Amino acid sequence: MDRKHHWGYPALTRPGLAREQLLAHFRHEYLVYVRDFPALLGRALGITSPLEDVRRSLAENLYEEQTGGLSGTAAHPELFLRMMAGLGFERRTFADDDAWLHPAARRYRDLLRARASAAPWQASVALLTIFVEGSVNEREELGGTFVRRRGGSAVLEHPLVKHYGCRPEAMELTRAHAQVEGGHRGDAWRMVLAHSPDDSDVARAVVETCEQALGAWLEYRDGVAERMQLQREAAA
Ligand SMILES: [Fe+2]
Repeated sequence: MDRKHHWGYPALTRPGLAREQLLAHFRHEYLVYVRDFPALLGRALGITSPLEDVRRSLAENLYEEQTGGLSGTAAHPELFLRMMAGLGFERRTFADDDAWLHPAARRYRDLLRARASAAPWQASVALLTIFVEGSVNEREELGGTFVRRRGGSAVLEHPLVKHYGCRPEAMELTRAHAQVEGGHRGDAWRMVLAHSPDDSDVARAVVETCEQALGAWLEYRDGVAERMQLQREAAA
């Protein structure tokens, strides 16, 4: 997770991107994993061993992602589209278009789909709940030294609101994540660590799956940076 960073990312937190550049990023994110994330969690849930705590935790995560029932909002893919509407991007812009995706984006998406239902379940759960849902801030977030902004300030300080004119009311996704994601981060690590003994084949499979995901993700982000026409020097 310490390496889940891409040189093109800082450009997204600063002003200066054209609307087509923002759209290239968000449309990829939506089609590659945002839209189908709850269904991917369902795949992982479907291959778990009969462990009450693991199934419960995945079911809660899936319920929130597909309904927003825990945070009192709505399905997270839907919240994402509302955030896009706040930026002025219409819903139909995000309709499925496989042919449009960068080939590296398709490869990363295909890896997620295949690995989400591949044994051992610990690797599938780590892939989705740690690698995909987590960020480069994982270590600090778990250690308590990085705290996500919450409530109104989280929204008003969000780059899309601050620099790109997104309506604050359209940022329910940020509110939902601030509310539930802290608990999910801890749950994710507990589930995987409790059932992956050190030096076991399972532990090795977890690491290997996440390493492959990281490689595919970095290529995916390179592909998006290419579509956004970001210059590495300028973005660094
Ligand atoms: Fe989410």
